[in-house]
Amino acid sequence: MTGSVNFDRAAGFYDETRGFPESVIERIGPFLADAAQLTGDETVLEVGIGTGRISLPLAPYVERICGIDISPKMLQKLLDKRNDAAVFPTVGDAHYLPFADDSIDVVLVTHVFHLVDNPLAVLAEIRRVLKPGGCLLHTFGRFGYADAMQPISEAWRPYSEKSTRKAKWSNTEDLASPNGWETVRTAEFAYDYDTCPAEFLECVEGRIWSSTWYIPEDDLHAGAAAIRAAVDAHFNGDPNTVVPTVRHYHAHIIIPTDI
Ligand SMILES: C[S@@+](CC[C@H](N)C(=O)[O-])C[C@H]1O[C@@H](n2cnc3c(N)ncnc32)[C@H](O)[C@@H]1O
Repeated sequence: MTGSVNFDRAAGFYDETRGFPESVIERIGPFLADAAQLTGDETVLEVGIGTGRISLPLAPYVERICGIDISPKMLQKLLDKRNDAAVFPTVGDAHYLPFADDSIDVVLVTHVFHLVDNPLAVLAEIRRVLKPGGCLLHTFGRFGYADAMQPISEAWRPYSEKSTRKAKWSNTEDLASPNGWETVRTAEFAYDYDTCPAEFLECVEGRIWSSTWYIPEDDLHAGAAAIRAAVDAHFNGDPNTVVPTVRHYHAHIIIPTDI
């Protein structure tokens, strides 16, 4: 749908830049199964399934996972990795889920609500397809930059705000609670991740993050220059200085309040 952010342009670099370390991938399935109290019999729908970063490790813990995404190229990456996992993606729009009423046990959403044209309409569609007793499993990662990286993220902040696309909604609970949903359980785990200013700079200059896709070229260049100045001032000019950080992966179990 016009107004949603299609990730075709990211398919070639998505897994390299958003993927979890191997040791973390192994934790995703058991973590989500425990958080959502899955029995193994569930039909799951992942909205905005992308390359299957979450659904592929979750698949052994449920009956099947259907997925939809507006990006055929992201889905092709998923199919290239799928092997015999019970994950069945199709091109489709979150605003018009191609599923019957009351047909899905768990709807999984990860890093999608800020990218869709109308988050409330998507939430209504999710409500429509959920079986009575079903839940929305909203998961998300938090970068949690170490203090040492603050000068870099601060240098970039004014330029990040130049984006011509403003997300309508980025926090599930903000939208869910006043709109007939309730978060009933949350879970999270932490893992170590070494980063460096060069990685940040690459994400900006390479327009790796979707938040950079709508920033005018001049502002992007000015932002990159500001980051370089911060590297000179705070990292002795060495962008490859290793900065250990702790990242968090969260799961929120959210149910409609009208059941
Ligand atoms: C940041 S990626 C997340 C992919 C996956 N959930 C993950 O966590 O790795 C967001 C995905 O949502 C898809 N998307 C954006 N708007 C959509 C819409 N209206 N309907 C379906 N998918 C959409 C994008 O194409 C992209 O693949």
